[in-house]
Amino acid sequence: MEDLKTFLIEKVLLSESDTLSPATEKKLQQLRQEKPDNPVIFVSSGTSSIISGSEKTCSSVESYLKENNLSARMIHVGCTGPANFEPLVCIQLPGKNKLYFRNITEEKVEPLLNGVFHNDINEEDLAGQTGTLGFELWPGIPFMDEHPFFANQKRVVLGNCGCYDPESIEEYIARGGYRAYIKAIRHYTFEEVCDIIEKSGLRGRSGGGYLTGLKWKHALNTASNARYLICNAKESDPGAFTDRTILESDPHRLIEGIAIASYAIGSSNAIIFMRSGSEHALNRLQQAIARAREYGLFGHNIFSSGYNLDITIRKEPGAFVCGEETALINTLEGKRGMPQLKPPYPTTSGLFGKPTVINNVETLMNVPLIMQNGPEWFRTMGTENSPGTKVFAVTGKGRMSGVVEVEMGTKIRTILDDIADGIKEGREFKAIQLGGASGSFIAGENLDLAIDYEVLKENGIGMGAGGFVIIDDNTCMVDLVRYYMEFLRNESCGKCIPCREGTGRMLEILESVIRKPLDEESGTTLERFKGVMQLETIAKVMKDTSLCGLGQTAPNPFMSALQNFRDEFEEHIFDRKCRANICRGLRSFSVDIDKCTGCTACAAKCPVNAIYGTRLQPYFIVADKCIGCGICFDICKFSAIIVK
Ligand SMILES: Cc1cc2nc3c(=O)[nH]c(=O)nc-3n(C[C@H](O)[C@H](O)[C@H](O)COP(=O)(O)O)c2cc1C
Repeated sequence: MEDLKTFLIEKVLLSESDTLSPATEKKLQQLRQEKPDNPVIFVSSGTSSIISGSEKTCSSVESYLKENNLSARMIHVGCTGPANFEPLVCIQLPGKNKLYFRNITEEKVEPLLNGVFHNDINEEDLAGQTGTLGFELWPGIPFMDEHPFFANQKRVVLGNCGCYDPESIEEYIARGGYRAYIKAIRHYTFEEVCDIIEKSGLRGRSGGGYLTGLKWKHALNTASNARYLICNAKESDPGAFTDRTILESDPHRLIEGIAIASYAIGSSNAIIFMRSGSEHALNRLQQAIARAREYGLFGHNIFSSGYNLDITIRKEPGAFVCGEETALINTLEGKRGMPQLKPPYPTTSGLFGKPTVINNVETLMNVPLIMQNGPEWFRTMGTENSPGTKVFAVTGKGRMSGVVEVEMGTKIRTILDDIADGIKEGREFKAIQLGGASGSFIAGENLDLAIDYEVLKENGIGMGAGGFVIIDDNTCMVDLVRYYMEFLRNESCGKCIPCREGTGRMLEILESVIRKPLDEESGTTLERFKGVMQLETIAKVMKDTSLCGLGQTAPNPFMSALQNFRDEFEEHIFDRKCRANICRGLRSFSVDIDKCTGCTACAAKCPVNAIYGTRLQPYFIVADKCIGCGICFDICKFSAIIVK
């Protein structure tokens, strides 16, 4: 192992030439598992794979190899993307293309491996093949990169995810890793690195889209005796998992991005800010940092460059608002995690009053690639104002879900129709929610908008950090807005009045719209209508006067839902009807006496004893007692419960 380390440092990391000798390349090819002599079995090992049972799959693979005395290797890799395929298993036989199999739970391992090793492929679980190096093709088996899920993506930031062992620094180096960092600290000035990133046009991927190079220059040009680089890996939006996937699947590239960014701003201290709960990602990151330290990539006078760097991880239990940069700084300083008025911006006065750059995980993942390939290469992807790619966590009611990456400028429709393969059978499309809890809803007429900071902004939509929730007609928009508002009300730190009171009042009004009033005749319709009218004014005040992005963007779900689904709000207010039959307060249940067999199942399960009757005779529901929970509807085997 020591020999390998010395080889990688001397022949690869410290090589002054861009082209390595054929002997070195050959060794790197081996490390990349490109031409294995023995079969290699790659098993996905991210959180979504573990949830789907990949740990048991791995144990079964290990037992199989042992029992059959096979000289094959098993490698844990990160997440390849499609969550529906987990646990995903890839098998490479020497000289042949790689074969991918989906949903390989433990019991499927033995028949699968028996089949592959005896040239009898089980087509049922087959996802496809890959290979470009002149390996033997598997006849009749489709290529993975032609599958619509992958064909419409441009996997650059996620390029390594699912391809290599995230715990192997050797393989990362063999894939070109850490060379850009070493080159930067040995041959470039701080300003030159900032210039390259500025020229590339890279913009912050957390949503704001601020120019990264410019931000770095602000910090670099602020006179100070210390500077900090913080990687914001907080990611506590409901439904967000892009950062976690990256941390689990390619921690070394993130570390390299952090190291280059730290150098660019003249900082010798980098902090990764994580939330508690992402234990798997944390372990991977800790392990990767320890390995990088062993290779001398951090510490004092790194490779005689005169540059010193230390990277630490801070795991915080903090709330959603602690992801906001000034609240994050307060948290790191041991204060309450509440935002502060800006300016001063962190680049002028951040952690402990020193210039601080805070960047998102995805932003930093782009940095080594730009340094390796040049800013012009980066600008060949995406649009004029939004170069590069964007990573999204696709969830909800699409046929496919998972972590995807598309070129900027791609239409929203491409992600919905091609990558996610449309809406699940039997349901209709309703909306896309882009950008997490305080993101906007996008209805059908806007699906052809391009993913581009300016295009989305002109249409009143925020890019967000990467949430892409697909919503179908089974969802009540009013109830969904209420759900997000409840989340934001709970997460509001309470420091500023517009956000604290505004989120509370908005939630109250939304609840009045979906709640059944005690007396429907007592003028409550007018009250509900006035309430919703008030919501628009409250939203404007919150947007204009809240202290931080949480309060400023909290009205987005409501405003965009009202704009696109006004008829649903009106139905709730005036007709007291929820077309998706989700709002409990507006549902009424009755028994179809022709179908009811008097089996008693509904009465037994009703949580408020609102169902009465005599056994084997039709039952009835007391409307005044019914709370609209729908348990009777779900439990009835005879379709005898009518819902209106
Ligand atoms: C309520 C709130 C939560 C936020 N949470 C995150 C987060 O989890 N991760 C993140 O990178 N940025 C988050 N941000 C944005 C950060 O304040 C900051 O702008 C970002 O880390 C800058 O990175 P970038 O320039 O690379 O986009 C949040 C902002 C707000 C208002």
